[in-house]
Parts: sequence; C-alpha cells; structure tokens
Amino acid sequence: MGEREHLIIFDTTLRDGEQSPGATMTREEKIRIAKGLERLRVDVIEAGFPAASKGDFESVRAVAQSIKESRVCGLARAREADLRAAGEALAEAEAGRIHTFIATSPIHMQAKLQMEPDDVLDAAVKAVRLARQLCDDVEFSPEDAGRSDFDFLCRIIEAAIDAGAGTINIPDTVGYNVPEQFGHLIKSLRERIPNSDKAVFSVHCHNDLGLAVANSLAAVRQGARQVECTINGLGERAGNAALEEIVMAVRTRQDIYDCETRINAAEIVPTSKLVANITGFHVQPNKAIVGVNAFAHESGIHQDGVLKHRETYEIMRAEDVGWHANRMVLGKHSGRNAFRSRLTELGIALQSEEQLNEAFMRFKALADKKHEIFDEDLQALVTEAGSALENERIKLLSLRVCSETGETPEASVALLVNGEERQAVAPGSGPVDAAFKAIDSLLQSGTELLLYSVSNITTGTDSQGEVTVRLERAGRVVNGQGADVDIVIASAKAYINALNKILVGAADRRHPQAADV
Ligand code: KIV
Ligand code: ZN
Repeated sequence: MGEREHLIIFDTTLRDGEQSPGATMTREEKIRIAKGLERLRVDVIEAGFPAASKGDFESVRAVAQSIKESRVCGLARAREADLRAAGEALAEAEAGRIHTFIATSPIHMQAKLQMEPDDVLDAAVKAVRLARQLCDDVEFSPEDAGRSDFDFLCRIIEAAIDAGAGTINIPDTVGYNVPEQFGHLIKSLRERIPNSDKAVFSVHCHNDLGLAVANSLAAVRQGARQVECTINGLGERAGNAALEEIVMAVRTRQDIYDCETRINAAEIVPTSKLVANITGFHVQPNKAIVGVNAFAHESGIHQDGVLKHRETYEIMRAEDVGWHANRMVLGKHSGRNAFRSRLTELGIALQSEEQLNEAFMRFKALADKKHEIFDEDLQALVTEAGSALENERIKLLSLRVCSETGETPEASVALLVNGEERQAVAPGSGPVDAAFKAIDSLLQSGTELLLYSVSNITTGTDSQGEVTVRLERAGRVVNGQGADVDIVIASAKAYINALNKILVGAADRRHPQAADV
C-alpha cells in the first residue's frame, strides 16, 4: 500500500464549541484549552471570532501568541472589518489562517442576508482576496452548503479558489444531511469544479440528527482531507462532530480510510476532561471514547471474553486514548515547587505570582480535606482560582446546612458582596435548594436556573464533586462551576460562580452567524 494521505484535524472547540449556551470562556481558559489541543497535536485550532468583541479579539491574539505547533485560525464574516480584525489578531501567530464565510443557501441568502446570489459571490471573492492580503492561508466556507443549490455552490467555490482560498470547507450548518448524500455532495463538487485540485476540501458537520460524525466520515471516504470537529462534540445546539470519534474511527479502521491523522491519541481523554471542566459541559457516561463507561465491561460474558483475549470485545485499548487509573500526583506535604512543576507538565502556565498564590492556597486547603490530589483535581482548582481572580464580586464566606430525616433542611450562608458581609438563613426542599435560596435572598438576582448537574472528578467517595449551574437572565446564559469534597459546598460555589459571571453585565458580543450582519 502507498503512503497514506494526511487528514487535517481542524478543532473548533474554542469557536463553534464556545457558541454552546453558557460555554463562553475567558482568555486564560482559552489558552489552557489551546495548549491541550497543541499537546493533542491538532493541525488547526480555530481560536474564535475576533470581531465578536474586544475580549474575543484579545483571546484569539493570546492563543496566536502562545501556540507554536498548531496553526491558529480566526473566523471572519465576508466583511472588511471582520477580516482586518482577524488579520490583526493573528499577526503574531507562528502559522495563522483566516476562515471567512458567507451563506449560500436560498433561505439564508433571502431571509438572513437579503442578498442576490451574484452579490453573495462577489462578496465571497472580495473577502478571500482581502484575506489573502492579510494572511497567506485562507479558508472559505459557503455557510449552509448542505442546503445550497449545487450549481451555485460550484460557481462560488471555483471563484473562491481562483481568488486564493487554499481550503474549501463544506458546512452542514443545520445538521440536515445524511451520510450517503453528504459523501456524494463532496464527490460531485470535487469532480465538477475545474480547479478543485487546487484546494483541500474540508467538512464541518452539525449533529442535529445525530449524524455529524457519520457525515464527516462519509466525506472523508470521498476525498475530504480536513475535518472540522470539537472535543466531546461540543457546539451550537446538538453540537459538532466529535474529534475523538473521527480520529479513532480513522485510526481503528485503516482498512476503510486511506488517510491518517497526526493526533496523539493518548491526550484525548485528558483534553476531554479539561474541556468538560472549563465549559461545564460534562460527558455522558456512555459517550464513545471519552465516556466513563466507554471501556467498562459489565456483563459476565463480555468480561470472560476480554479476560481470555481482549480483542473478543475490545476494538481499541483504553490506555491508547489516555484512560489510566487515577494517578496520585501531589499530597498534603507537596510544596510550591512541586505544585508549580506539575502545573507546567499539564501545560498550565499561570500568568502571574498572584495567580500561582491563589491556586496554591486552594491546593493546600484541598489537600487538608483530601489526601491524594490527582491531575483532574488540579485542573478544577486552577479553573476556580482563575474565575476567583477575574470576577469575584460575590464571595462565599461560610455555609452551614442542616438536613435530617423527616425535617425541612435549612441553610445559613454568609457572603461577601462588593466587600460587604451579608448573612441569610433559608429553608429548602433539600440542602442544595436551601443553600441556593439563602444565597439568592441576599442578591435578588432575577436569574432562572436552567441546569444543575453534579459529577465526580475522580473515583471514590472522597472524590471532589464537580457541579455545573447554568443561569439565564434577559437572554444571557452563563455556566458556573464549583468543586469540593462536600457537594453542597461545591453547589454553592458553582451557583456563586455563575452569579458572578452574570452580574458582571452582558458583554456586547456579536454572534458570527446571527441575522443582524
Ligand atoms: O456551521 C457553520 O456553518 C459554521 C460556519 C461559520 C463554518 O460554523
Ligand atoms: Zn458550525
């Protein structure tokens, strides 16, 4: 067999993934995830949409400055201001890419853009030309390609390649396509467009029908050589194609796919945990590759088979994708240097002494309660320390909860709100409910609780509980995270973290695909 072609893995966790409700990340969090993606050896990291806001611009710039081994990409609508913002944010990247897009389906052109097809084509060509002046690597996406007219798609793609786009990305923006049809679309585009050999064909599939991975793989069979995907399948609505599933399908079925990725599969699970911890989007237990049950064999027949010969029921090895028994990394007696060097090994570069002090203080407090500290604990405490330094207008001073069989639980809470101490007591239907009611009685936040979820960070009853709270106020959604060996305290921390984010005020942030354009 000849040399296998390279399949480019384009990760958009920091851009499309961040478009999941409440998944907004700070600059520091984006850098931590980008470093994880670099260790995973993804080819391209789409770091954000620089024109969305000043904060987004700064985040893309910071990622571009910190990443050396992956190409860093910024998204831009086919508009001069967006393209210039992307060019500027990427100026210091070792290798940068501008990804520009415009919608091409009849419904998007008429209802959203209110533009004629010829004007859309014109805008696309101008955008690609300008992008090429700003960056030598340009990707063009006809948004909603999956519902676009085939002849028009061919025309606009041919023109975009002529204008200098080196990558043509075909998005199934609304997750409407099915595998045979989507594979056929890629094949037909490559056959029909005269200059198709001058560009890499890429796909970007959404998961509304649960087909994002299947559609992407069908496209790979038809010559797509870049797949856009996210860790844990994070993304708008039902999400994007899951990176871990694409990578492991291609790797496990080399008899089917004539290409290979350069992904370091052993980093898949650590990166999945990092993204879940930072975004608060936890992975379902039966999720392929990264769910806790993905390699667990429950039934006696399966266990017997695996013990005799593991390949009877296992097609991949858990350790190959980074599952390992929790490894104790630090303990009560570990000092500041050991703490700092383990963080460095995890790719966490704390920006200042103040951040290191805050994180180390939290580490010591945790080590007093929990004797063995694992990497997952460290990731959670760095996330907490980061948000504490960033927007801690409200701080938990103390929480006491009484819960007893047959009695109504009651919580007493003390908070520091803008430097002033406040206290309250409230009953609730359970201890967490009582704690939330006591906290809210002090703040009257006017928020609606959309989600409350608890999971364990490591194993064992002394594991920290990791809680996510999603709140909504006036259309703005935020996720708050909290971790503690006591899950009621973890819940209060997560609630306060979300309140801190929502009370900081809605940042004026544009959505790249919104109709306002
Ligand atoms: O889903 C989509 O169409 C997108 C584009 C911006 C590529 O995310
Ligand atoms: Zn998308």
